[in-house]
Amino acid sequence: MKLWGGRFQKETDSVVNDFNSSIQFDFRLYEEDINGSIAHAFMLGETGIIEKAEAVKIIEGLERILQDIKDGKVEFSAENEDIHMNVERLLTERIGDTGKRLHTARSRNDQVALDFRMYIKKEIISVTGILLSLEKALCKKARQHLKTVMPGYTHMQRAQPTTYAHYLMAYAEMFRRDIGRLCDCYDRMDELPLGSGALSATTYPIDRDMVRNALGFKRITANSVDGVSDRDFAIELASALSIIMMHLSRFSEEIILWCSWEFKFLELDDAFSTGSSIMPQKKNPDVAELTRGKTGRVYGSLITLLTIMKSLPLAYNKDMQEDKEAVFDAVDTVKQCLNVFIPMFETLTVNKDRMRMAASGGFINATDCADYLTKKGVPFRDAYTIVGRLVNTCVRTGETLETLTMKDYRAVSEAFGDDIYEALSLRTCVNGRNVPGGPAEDEVTSQIESIEEFAGSFEKKDEKENIH
Ligand code: ARG
Repeated sequence: MKLWGGRFQKETDSVVNDFNSSIQFDFRLYEEDINGSIAHAFMLGETGIIEKAEAVKIIEGLERILQDIKDGKVEFSAENEDIHMNVERLLTERIGDTGKRLHTARSRNDQVALDFRMYIKKEIISVTGILLSLEKALCKKARQHLKTVMPGYTHMQRAQPTTYAHYLMAYAEMFRRDIGRLCDCYDRMDELPLGSGALSATTYPIDRDMVRNALGFKRITANSVDGVSDRDFAIELASALSIIMMHLSRFSEEIILWCSWEFKFLELDDAFSTGSSIMPQKKNPDVAELTRGKTGRVYGSLITLLTIMKSLPLAYNKDMQEDKEAVFDAVDTVKQCLNVFIPMFETLTVNKDRMRMAASGGFINATDCADYLTKKGVPFRDAYTIVGRLVNTCVRTGETLETLTMKDYRAVSEAFGDDIYEALSLRTCVNGRNVPGGPAEDEVTSQIESIEEFAGSFEKKDEKENIH
């Protein structure tokens, strides 16, 4: 019979059992579920809501179940619907009637809200850790490429000079914000919902703060209806994960493009690329393409969650059971992508010569040429027009700004002098951009140091937490 079978005169139809049950996926919450139950049972004993000896018996039983699940000795059943009732049923089978006291002053509604929050908190820490190793990989490569000049693009047209290091640190900033979003989400969701009961809390003299403390939550939820109805934390996580994937996807897109024969800026390591079944010459960037492709699944999870919640009346509704697979899939996908993307990135070869060649060919120093005139007193708008004319001539004659003669320059403006060639050199163009945030070597070095410090601050935090 079902745990809730008392009110019913018929067995549940088997198609309903299959449809209704979530154990196939929510078994993943077993550790959170059991730890939550242990804290709850402990509090029930301490407050005298159940006998202390009974609490001890329940806790010991739960600990044994946890170990047996870890050892693969437990089989869950769809008949028992979800992880919460599977564990409770097992407990009662093992320790007898005392097990039936565990669910005193609790509902599956606050129980599932608790388990899900605990799981998400754990996964936020895990994803953050992987993002921090990506940050370190970016800093390491950037340090090697402070002088690797390449063209920066706008509209996919060569625009202005930058370095590969400068460019990589742009991604480091995106991932820094991603980590910030995960931390914000963590802080906001760090509230214990247990004690909300089904929706209207409970008449038992529970001690929510004791449970909060035992389970390491910062606060308790302030309203019991909200405590069981809220899934904002799952939506915020899916949103943060979607943004991470958007960044990874842009990064992947460029790796794909830059590995093409047309660019050849980068080459993937053999171990991180794949071949074609028919074309013997191919070396494909499958990892980057799959990362780009899997972005869609994570966005899908976000939309799933938003849509599940949009019309739900308060408080709990069974629709909310659909939240788990969306979150599990989003978390799994992001971790899987990052865990392959990072070593793929670390092992790729940078073709400095190709980058420099591209930087030399596309008039990316045209702005610098106009700036040169401006610094000689020509108003910027006039300087812009003069250089535009020069570029136009070069395009027709197949020259570049560097190959024009002094005569060509003097023909369009008296302000040009011999120092124009030095002003146009890529080294000057990059290192002259030495305002904060710019591509000059010293500036990028500060950007790297800032990210390294940011990543280091998490390690310090970890150490502190371990001491306590
Ligand atoms: N399996 C359910 C879920 O994931 C647990 C909560 C069920 N509560 C209920 N009243 N049916 O949402």
